[in-house]
Amino acid sequence: MIGTAARVGVFTESVIREMTRLAAEHGGVNLAQGFPDFPAPAELLEAAARALREGYNQYAITWGAPNFRRALAEKARWFNGIAVDPERNITVTCGATEAMMATLLATVNPGEEVIVFEPFYENYGPDAKLSGAVPRFVPIRLEPGFPFDPDQVRAAVTPKTRAIVVNTPHNPTGKVFSRPELEFIAGLCHQHDLLAITDEVYEHIIYDGLAHTTLAALPGMLERTVIVNSLSKSYSVTGWRVGWTIAPAAIADGIRKVHDFLTVGAAAPLQEAGVTALGFPRRYYTDLAAMYQRKRDTLLGILQEAGFACLAPSGAYYIICDITPLGYDDDYEFTMHLIREVGVAPVPGSSFFHDPASGRHYVRFAFPKREETFDEVRSRLRRLRPRSRATSAPALQPAPRPSVSRPAASGPAAAGRRGRSRR
Ligand SMILES: Cc1ncc(COP(=O)(O)O)c(C=O)c1O
Repeated sequence: MIGTAARVGVFTESVIREMTRLAAEHGGVNLAQGFPDFPAPAELLEAAARALREGYNQYAITWGAPNFRRALAEKARWFNGIAVDPERNITVTCGATEAMMATLLATVNPGEEVIVFEPFYENYGPDAKLSGAVPRFVPIRLEPGFPFDPDQVRAAVTPKTRAIVVNTPHNPTGKVFSRPELEFIAGLCHQHDLLAITDEVYEHIIYDGLAHTTLAALPGMLERTVIVNSLSKSYSVTGWRVGWTIAPAAIADGIRKVHDFLTVGAAAPLQEAGVTALGFPRRYYTDLAAMYQRKRDTLLGILQEAGFACLAPSGAYYIICDITPLGYDDDYEFTMHLIREVGVAPVPGSSFFHDPASGRHYVRFAFPKREETFDEVRSRLRRLRPRSRATSAPALQPAPRPSVSRPAASGPAAAGRRGRSRR
């Protein structure tokens, strides 16, 4: 029988997208995948329709339509505080997803190492597998502020280390890397001649008066950083699949080559509409952050009322919760119960760890959702009953907002117990 290549045997399908499918199958409210259930700004939809009518229907230049790249450079100037040449530094891709893959393929040789903070956005695992990069994981502690230990980052650097991936604001925790933390990472990059790959797709979704800092804006970092970003989250258009990288010219050349042969280019009319998005007034971004902060507070209240111990995010649009106060200690079993019996779909925490056991006490809920969706979730979660049987770890008490949970106890790898050896 004709089978698949070995490289696709080393990871499974996306758990996040699998949960989305299961939610649809069971009529569950989908709080698994991070996409809005409300429309994108009307002006943007109109711009997309106009672009189609006006004839932007053939291939754009492979590394991006010139006016879109110019608009990206202008926004990088006023928002990120960096000077970027749209001709040499910017490559437009099919979402941040392709941007990350193309960057790894263009910059990391098979067998070279990449430092990744854990928990991590689940795509990074398969991205590393497909590109041949070897991830070295450094834990972010699941406690308020989501700190990491600088010594563990230092210890993760070896002669084979090529790059460090920094996702801020962070999925799944909502951590926003502080300026001192970014300065530490920049210092490490200078000391060991590392490339920084920064995933900044949530740069505008940030709470409690915090501000986004672009690592590339720190002294000397523009020359050693690839920024990965997209329209998806900032403009509520995750289905458009328009992203980009901002990279030093020599690296951009490599990314452009990979990108050309992976996808040729992102949708031309949507790049044209993207010019409208990037021209939105600054007020658009403060309103966006304020809207998501209200949604965060609403969902936090609902989850705490239901008995979860939650960690309040400072950015992005996810809440990571401890399930042990509800008498469960297996994220996958709990997720299935929640989807099938309660009708709400989260993502099992193990999807965000290389050793699934580290995430087994957690689930992640997404909150880019309408008020009506939250009302439905609130009423469905009232059906959730804590389970009284003893758990393998002492249950945490849900604390008042922002609530606090503890890092998961590590145990035997859970991969085997349910056949999900993803990474
Ligand atoms: C951290 C992070 N990076 C990248 C992506 C993918 O973005 P895009 O839709 O632009 O491919 C996501 C989507 O959830 C994400 O959470």
